Amino acid sequence: MRDQASSLRELVQEKNEYSEPQPAPAYPPAQGGAPASPPPQAAVQEVMPVHKRVFRPTIRTNARVIAITSGKGGVGKTNLAVNLAIAMAKIGRRVMIIDADLGMANVDVVLGTMSKHHLLHLLQPDVQLGDVLIHGPYGVNYISGGSAIERAVDFTPQERKCLMDKLAACETMADIVLVDTGAGLGRNVLDFILAADEVILVTTPEPTALTDAYAVMKAYSMNSEKKDLKIVVNRVYDESESNEVVTKLQRTSEKFLSMPLTSLGFIYEDRSVMNAVKRQQPLLSAFPDTMASRCIEMVAKNVLYGGEHKIRLGWKGFLQRLLNFS
Ligand SMILES: Nc1ncnc2c1ncn2[C@@H]1O[C@H](COP(=O)(O)OP(=O)(O)OP(=O)(O)O)[C@@H](O)[C@H]1O
Ligand SMILES: [Mg+2]
Repeated sequence: MRDQASSLRELVQEKNEYSEPQPAPAYPPAQGGAPASPPPQAAVQEVMPVHKRVFRPTIRTNARVIAITSGKGGVGKTNLAVNLAIAMAKIGRRVMIIDADLGMANVDVVLGTMSKHHLLHLLQPDVQLGDVLIHGPYGVNYISGGSAIERAVDFTPQERKCLMDKLAACETMADIVLVDTGAGLGRNVLDFILAADEVILVTTPEPTALTDAYAVMKAYSMNSEKKDLKIVVNRVYDESESNEVVTKLQRTSEKFLSMPLTSLGFIYEDRSVMNAVKRQQPLLSAFPDTMASRCIEMVAKNVLYGGEHKIRLGWKGFLQRLLNFS
């Protein structure tokens, strides 16, 4: 990955590219990063008379499910989830956030939204997916997890099927689903990070945050067959501070866990983050031109374009794992 400071400078120059939301590409790249060729109908449309053309909406039937987690609490997961979603939406991706930090409803606060319903309400026959979806800025959709997953073990097969059926349509609405988890190694947090195809671990440079981040890395490496973890270092004062943290964690991870750790970038310590939270507006809406905003846009670029990513289980696989659906 290139030096983030130089990329940030470029990003500042390219700012116009981000000022307008752009449409998603008509034919998104195939899984695994290889460029996809348009489906055969596209070629046919070239020669067919207009009145016979069949225009189909582009429906991507598998979403990237990315859990955002941390060892220590309060390191910036929710702010990253919400603003990463907005950054990706600004460049044309359809993004959905699941607030899986049970009981805290932090995404509501950061997005400045109010959710009346959460996932558990879907068990009521008259509540449909549209009732639990909150529409945030830039078309980012959001669902509050409530205490649904804590009850997952108690669900009857009918209740599991009901949730599965009602939630399945999410994958046609989003290219990317970001799951904002709680902190630490509780069973609920682990369930979410093991069910997701990709995991972003957020830490700050504080020693306590690093120790807790390592505990998550260890638990993840022992329980996941994917062994592919990404990291974002938040609240740094300069780039070298972030490099130090990443190098330290990467060395430890490779040596003791045999697990690669990929850096997605860093975010500067920036008062505008706190000021945006106070205003109950996402940082990228309230203060788009601050260093923290630019850093998050950089992280978004790295998530989208920074390397190969495979959708292994996708959204349905995520739900199946979470609900133990066989
Ligand atoms: N880059 C930053 N610069 C300055 N302050 C920050 C930054 N990132 C986060 N903060 C501060 O940290 C607070 C906590 O952030 P956030 O709620 O996103 O953390 P969290 O990891 O989701 O917490 P929890 O574990 O409780 O869910 C924010 O309200 C903000 O005041
Ligand atoms: Mg949070």
